[in-house]
This record gives sequence, C-alpha cells and structure tokens, in this order.
Amino acid sequence: MRTPIIAGNWKMNKTAVEAVQFVREIRQGLQNIQGVDKVVCPPFIAIPGVYEALQATDIGIGAQNMWYEDKGAYTGEIAPDMLTPFCQYVILGHSERRAYYCETDEGVNKKTKAALAHGLTPIICVGETLEQNEAGETQAFVSGQVKAALDGLTDEQVASCVIAYEPIWAIGTGKSASAAQAGSIIGLSVRGAIAEVYGEAVAQQVRIQYGGSVKEGNIAEYMAHPDIDGALVGGASLKPGFVELVRNAVA
Ligand code: PGA
Repeated sequence: MRTPIIAGNWKMNKTAVEAVQFVREIRQGLQNIQGVDKVVCPPFIAIPGVYEALQATDIGIGAQNMWYEDKGAYTGEIAPDMLTPFCQYVILGHSERRAYYCETDEGVNKKTKAALAHGLTPIICVGETLEQNEAGETQAFVSGQVKAALDGLTDEQVASCVIAYEPIWAIGTGKSASAAQAGSIIGLSVRGAIAEVYGEAVAQQVRIQYGGSVKEGNIAEYMAHPDIDGALVGGASLKPGFVELVRNAVA
C-alpha cells in the first residue's frame, strides 16, 4: 500500500563535478528498479547539476536542510522557493543538524510547515542517543520528537510526510539496530505516536524509513519488517553499490 522510499543522504560529500559524474554512473541502474521511490540528496551547490543529469529519469532529488522563511536577512541559508525548481524532498532535523547546528523540535516543526506549504515532501529525522537508549528513554523521546515535528499539521499533510527513524548510535558507526528493534520502535514510537494524535488511518499512510548503517547486505532485513517503508542511507549512498542496495530493497 505504501510505496517504499530509499533516499541517499550524501551529507557534506562530493563536489558539484563529482556529484554529476556519480549520478551519471548510477542513473541507469536506478532507473531500471521499479516499485520504490529513489531519491538522492546532494549538497546544495551540486543540486542544479544533478537535476540536469537526472532529467527524464524517475529519480527524485532532495536537499539536506532548508530555512523556513521565504526570504530575507538569513546569511548562509536556503529558502524553500530556491529548492522547488530542482527538488521534491527536503531532509529536516537530521541528528547531525540537531547536534552541531542547534536545531530544535520547534525549528523542525517550522521547517516542516514551510516545506509542505511549498510543495516539498519533508523527510523528518528522529532518533535517540545511546545514553537515552540505555536509560530506556527511547520510546518517550522518539514519540515526543515525532509529535513536536508534526504539531499543527492537517491529516493530509501528516499523511504526506516521510519520517526517518535513525538511532544516533547507529549512524556512521557500522552498528545498525536490528530490524526487529528498529521495526518495533517505528511501530510503537513513530507510527504509534502519529496514531495517537491523528488516528490510525493517517498513521497507516505515513512512510517511515529506518536509517543508520544501512548497506547492500542488510537492507532486505529492514524491508521485511511490515512497519519499515524504506531507508535513509548515508555512507552507502556515496558509492555505485547504492544501486544494488536499492535493488535489494525490493527484491
Ligand atoms: P549512515 O548515515 O548510513 O552513514 O549510517 C545515515 C544517516 O545519517 O542518514
């Protein structure tokens, strides 16, 4: 019922030239895989070149961040309208942005509203730290992040969001959460939190990804869990093996 979605979060990797070379290398392979939404999220400056290179393909483009105002004195920021000619998606509230750039739940909520108002699909990131996980706080913390990010949205808007559950201790560490662990948190604390506020019917429409050390070799396990609808992939999205990863997601 929910179309799976695999998004590659390139983070601060690849120059504009390298980005175009890379998407030329993977575009045909990705294009051949059906039944899954495929998205690449390059750094801002590489987005127009990647857009050109992906013309006439069904591969989506996402930004990795965005500011919530339309324009003005926000040095260094990018407005929604600057993205919409090129992007369909925007990653919001990634744990690295929350940790290094002081992003708050309130800011993520404002960005989510701005993205939706401009026709961009937000990929909202949530997830607990190792300390919170070990202290048994995961469920309360993650459901709090989900509710805060979606606060004040309509049912239709919520249904159109993508949420990425990424336990911080699993990002870039090679330590992935097991599919059973991730699926249970996604079911209880992400879909469950949405159901509490917006009802089960809305919760059933939201696509929820797992993120954290997803690779070619483990994607199938995550996809086999009924509550996991795809993945937000960091390191493994930077290499040609990303094609195989996406293929394995729907195999
Ligand atoms: P990773 O990153 O796949 O390199 O662990 C995932 C993410 O941060 O989105």
